[in-house]
Amino acid sequence: MSATQIQTYTTTKEDPGLLKLYQNAAATQFGDWRDDFFKNGYAVIKNVIMPEKAKSYQDRALDWLLSFDLGLDLKDTSTWNQKHLPKSFKSMYHSYCSGHEKFMWDARTEPGILKIYEDLWGTKELVVSFDGFNIGLPKRTDVEGTPWPHCDQAPSRKGLACAQGFLNLAPSGPKDGGLLLMKGSAPLFEEFFSEPREMFTPPGGGPPKDFLDLFLFKQEHLDWFRDRGCELIKVDCGPGDFVIWDSRTMHYAAFPEGEEIRTVFYICYTPRAFGEQEQMDLKARLFETYRGTTHWPHCNIRTSEPLMVDGKLDPMERLEPLEKPERTDLILKLAAVKAW
Ligand SMILES: [Fe+2]
Repeated sequence: MSATQIQTYTTTKEDPGLLKLYQNAAATQFGDWRDDFFKNGYAVIKNVIMPEKAKSYQDRALDWLLSFDLGLDLKDTSTWNQKHLPKSFKSMYHSYCSGHEKFMWDARTEPGILKIYEDLWGTKELVVSFDGFNIGLPKRTDVEGTPWPHCDQAPSRKGLACAQGFLNLAPSGPKDGGLLLMKGSAPLFEEFFSEPREMFTPPGGGPPKDFLDLFLFKQEHLDWFRDRGCELIKVDCGPGDFVIWDSRTMHYAAFPEGEEIRTVFYICYTPRAFGEQEQMDLKARLFETYRGTTHWPHCNIRTSEPLMVDGKLDPMERLEPLEKPERTDLILKLAAVKAW
């Protein structure tokens, strides 16, 4: 099978041809990053943007973090704690209209990133997640890096249904904050879930039952994958690289122990044809009101609710981004506001 053939597919996930294509993909020679992706469940695509541009994106994200005026000083590590930061989930910022800041939309329309997903799905007619970003300050003493191995695809979804990714903006070596993943776990997803599996329940409780696209693994589950030759690895990447992984891959974030401020933008596209109209309409409404979603672009559209403190709206919550995106034709199509 050739790379040319894959680009003819523009069908929905229900199409048996598409399913078969990806089932055979591990044995297919694409001659590019897809060879790693289908074999190991992830790939690093080097230099999708220039390092200088990556630095500029990082600066814009850090300016956003400083915009809350909470006394954060990027030169004074004693201020690198929750008292001086807006609220996040493990340094992932999904609230405050973060996903609709102009810098996020600028990144989502980078040709080098779009091409990755056009090659993966064989179509230019994509929709994108309204995901946020991660700014992981090292040397924090007020938080602990607790592993939470999980995958972001419901066990009921078979085959490749989503490939999440991030644009990496700071060096991410062995000691820096980054992505840990179980190499080779994606191709074993169906086998693992061929028998009933009970999810790990964290002390604060697990996700709601209807959350769907999240499964938290227990230690014994990690052993199951290791027994089948999988290996937990930390992904090495530099500024301007893009990391993509199959949403069936077990993964979690590494706590930053080096000097670098981990900065990544979560970006994920799927074909517009995968989405039901009702979900696309909801997505378009979320775009117009600057609300975020998970990384699933076409289904299970779950909006990030406004932040509440003691039953009241967090005074820092925002109704619109600091700098709004331009309403270009491409952005409106990627947001499902406009038809392809
Ligand atoms: Fe995840």
